[in-house]
Amino acid sequence: MIEIDAFLYDTIRPVTWHDNGLRLLDQRQLPEQEVYLYINSTQALHEAIKNMLVRGAPAIGIAAAYGAVLAAKEASADDSMPFTEGFHHRLELLASSRPTAVNLFNALKAAKQVSDPVNNLLSWANSWFEADIIANKKMSLQAAQYLKGQVNVLTHCNAGALATGGYGTALGVIKTGVQLGLIGQIYAGETRPWNQGARLTLWEFQQDNIPVSLVADSAAASLMNKGLIDWVIVGADSICMNGDIANKIGTYSLAVLAKHHGVKFMVVAPTTTFDLNAASADDIIVEQRSTDEILPTAYKQDSISALNPAFDLTPAELISVIVTEKGVIESPDASKIQALINQH
Ligand code: MRU
Repeated sequence: MIEIDAFLYDTIRPVTWHDNGLRLLDQRQLPEQEVYLYINSTQALHEAIKNMLVRGAPAIGIAAAYGAVLAAKEASADDSMPFTEGFHHRLELLASSRPTAVNLFNALKAAKQVSDPVNNLLSWANSWFEADIIANKKMSLQAAQYLKGQVNVLTHCNAGALATGGYGTALGVIKTGVQLGLIGQIYAGETRPWNQGARLTLWEFQQDNIPVSLVADSAAASLMNKGLIDWVIVGADSICMNGDIANKIGTYSLAVLAKHHGVKFMVVAPTTTFDLNAASADDIIVEQRSTDEILPTAYKQDSISALNPAFDLTPAELISVIVTEKGVIESPDASKIQALINQH
């Protein structure tokens, strides 16, 4: 595996614990303003995840890990019910904030298993946070073997530092590729309706002076047709046991287009994004967000409606490679995923 002494582009930390609470970079306000807010209750964190102040599967998982610290504090000060009942009740509140990113549920499940939670949860949450950044860097080095020459890449949504503890999954691969001189042009899809690509991915690359070209989501087919893309590189909100994935709406379209044009398709996600309970994409709950996010106010009337699924499902057969911190799976299927999970 390729090794590097220091990662040049590791500058952003969207979720960090401080004495005065959980500090979140308010991603709704980027790129106009860089505002940090402090969260001190499970109710406030529930709202912050639901309203996408913090977003991206691994970052939501990390926020939930620290949320468990808040849950334990609140439960120990709550005389109305036994500690364990109050603690679990608050973890359930956090679990109900968004349904698709499995990192949220994996973090909360792991938090429940920590013994003596009041005393031990903070150091456990710190390890969860640090492990995520280490995983991202490891994945980026493993993925580098697939970037041959000056590779042109297209990414979707924001799977960067902003969506993780730091450095990023898909964007981590691209950043390491840039550092190693392996990347030609980077294209970022806008990612309507929330514009994570236009607002967040561009901001993130701007922090490190990495050149990037914004493209409308609907430009992907013609870019591929012109031979301008070698790899599509994305993150995931959930990886099923057969290699199907859930990711931001529009990912599936890109995977279909990539297959048609002979473009390679890479999914980069830590093993905290595996859903051990999902045999295939049929088992994934796709979040439906408010139609207010897409329907112009002028059309708020009974005869006009909208659909706003936040994610879509990409079958394993459209994925060239899944990169995790435990190893890389080419042409993923159930037996390869199981073998990866079984290894320690
Ligand atoms: O709705 P969001 O912004 O939380 O969706 C984020 C994505 O879909 C990301 O691609 C995914 O979580 C991977 S982030 C490393």
